[in-house]
Amino acid sequence: MSSTGKWVMTAARKVDYEIIETFDLFNPENPEMGLLPGEKSSALTRLVVMDHTVDEIVGERVRNYFSVNRLSVEYLTLPGGDENKNLDQVLRIASRLSEIGTHRVGTPPIAIGGGVLQDVVGMAASLYRRGIPYVRVPTTLLAQIDGSVSAKNGVNYEGFRNRLGTFMPPPRTLIDRSLIASLPERQIRSGLGEALKMALIKDPVLFGLLEQHGPRLVSDRLQDSGAENNAGPGREVMHRAISGMAEELQKNLWETDLQRIVDYGHTFSPTIEMQALPALLHGEVVAMDCVLSGVLAVHRGMLPPSEFGRILTTTRGMGLAPSHPMFADPSVLRQSLSDTMRHRDNQQHLTLLKGIGQTVFVNDLTGLELERAAVVMEELLESDEAGLLSPQGGR
Ligand SMILES: NC(=O)c1ccc[n+]([C@@H]2O[C@H](COP(=O)([O-])OP(=O)(O)OC[C@H]3O[C@@H](n4cnc5c(N)ncnc54)[C@H](O)[C@@H]3O)[C@@H](O)[C@H]2O)c1
Ligand SMILES: [Zn+2]
Repeated sequence: MSSTGKWVMTAARKVDYEIIETFDLFNPENPEMGLLPGEKSSALTRLVVMDHTVDEIVGERVRNYFSVNRLSVEYLTLPGGDENKNLDQVLRIASRLSEIGTHRVGTPPIAIGGGVLQDVVGMAASLYRRGIPYVRVPTTLLAQIDGSVSAKNGVNYEGFRNRLGTFMPPPRTLIDRSLIASLPERQIRSGLGEALKMALIKDPVLFGLLEQHGPRLVSDRLQDSGAENNAGPGREVMHRAISGMAEELQKNLWETDLQRIVDYGHTFSPTIEMQALPALLHGEVVAMDCVLSGVLAVHRGMLPPSEFGRILTTTRGMGLAPSHPMFADPSVLRQSLSDTMRHRDNQQHLTLLKGIGQTVFVNDLTGLELERAAVVMEELLESDEAGLLSPQGGR
């Protein structure tokens, strides 16, 4: 029997959210952290979730901020690191939100920490009462230039990256570049891995900054010491990376189009990152994936070898390794690609470079091409030589 009734519902949800650059965020005279989205304020209790290490470094200043401003808050401290990006942490946050009686709209929690903390708080906020607003205060370079713009959150599940997650951007994100000054150099390098991706897909000027200032960006932690503090390469790198990300995400926020150039560096890396956990950091594996994709493009005759040489030198200049034994193993590469294809509706949608800042999508990558690229990735493990590739040769 055919159906006798049918109701079609159509609705669109508009979102507005802001990413605000601010300085000296934990100075009690800076109003930003006390404000709710829409610049309102609240006398009711809010939850402040802090990353463990961040709490050790700036926890006292954060507590002083809320106490001087007589704002009612409760605290929860959680560990960072991708091995802690799981549902248990999400549920711990949900329990605290419940305990303190968090409202549906008026008492948004504040998340102060790296990308992992942002992802678990974002996920908890998106589930609690089917979604409440929250405020992001990212404290790593990676979270400031990448996660800060994103509408996504998620947790790793059953050995897969971000296998569970939701789309729900917070209305307010506050970025204070001085907060990353306490990061270990390795975390800065990892964050620069995402900046490298952004440079390669759409911003040759950003690439030039990374190429020219790579080592100094790492050692200065993008702080631009001295007179140039507000106009130096650190600030410019951050601005360009955030702007590029915002521009790309804005036009496809809900990812209805699965061809995304921002997925450059994120095709082979998700599986490898999870298999290597916790040995490799997110941005480190992204940089390796960028290099591998560069090799594939050179072999196809798309990317001039000289451009690839610049990419390799710049990657190394930022202290990032271009390869890892897993990137030299064709079976790992094949497995990574097929898992990513499931995420892209069984298409490769692989972004390759035609030049620095220029991309094309490819859907016909073969196992043989992966094998040839794996040979080069193996050589890159040992060699410090750049620019040895030729489109015809096996390298
Ligand atoms: N939602 C998104 O769209 C999005 C985008 C990019 C990345 N991410 C996720 O972000 C995660 C990686 O983020 P991450 O690199 O920030 O990792 P992280 O949050 O684990 O932070 C890295 C380390 O730095 C410590 N730390 C944080 N801030 C510090 C500070 N100011 N000083 C000293 N130490 C500090 C943390 O305790 C941790 O040990 C990945 O899980 C990735 O999937 C999500
Ligand atoms: Zn990433």
